[in-house]
Amino acid sequence: MTDAPLILRGVEIWQGALDRPAQEAMLADLREVVRAAPLFSPETRFGKKMSVAMTSAGTYGWYSDRRGYRYERRHPSGVDWPPIPESVLAVWRARVSAERMPDCCLVNYYREGAKMGLHQDRDEADFSWPVLSISLGDEARFRIGSVDRGGTTESVWLRSGDVCVIGGDARLVHHGIDKVRFGSSTLLSDGGRVNLTLRVVD
Ligand code: SIN
Ligand code: MN
Repeated sequence: MTDAPLILRGVEIWQGALDRPAQEAMLADLREVVRAAPLFSPETRFGKKMSVAMTSAGTYGWYSDRRGYRYERRHPSGVDWPPIPESVLAVWRARVSAERMPDCCLVNYYREGAKMGLHQDRDEADFSWPVLSISLGDEARFRIGSVDRGGTTESVWLRSGDVCVIGGDARLVHHGIDKVRFGSSTLLSDGGRVNLTLRVVD
């Protein structure tokens, strides 16, 4: 584990924060989450199906359709979102706060060819809390722009076990995933990438 983060446009990137056993244990916990709340691919507010499949754990889950981006109390099937696994909360406690736990853990699953366009995470009520991101599986090129739309961007490859803290002046930066190097990690037996983002919602 590195003792200081790489900082790119104000985003802290803790490379190798989770070792392989920790990644495997977290993945096993996430399989339980997905069993209780199966992955789905929502539509953007423009009616286009996202290439990333997702689900959530916590009090709220992130959801999107033509009505817009928002948090919902229940999975589309009607069940409550499962609790955020302890292995995931431990990372939040270590990197963000032991006082206030996140309300939502969004689980994004990138199959071959999946990507995510530049966007801001701004559906939360309180931007004073950072978003914490955990990457598992195949490596992905993470692009970061500015708080305002447009302008230049920079990118960094995120690898399995990397943790990012998107907070402070960087809390509302535009960010996205250009591409995933499919099959570059052995963590997921069928390949692919899982990204978790932990958010305080209200
Ligand atoms: C996100 O912005 O929700 C996901 C970022 C990532 O997959 O690393
Ligand atoms: Mn995001």
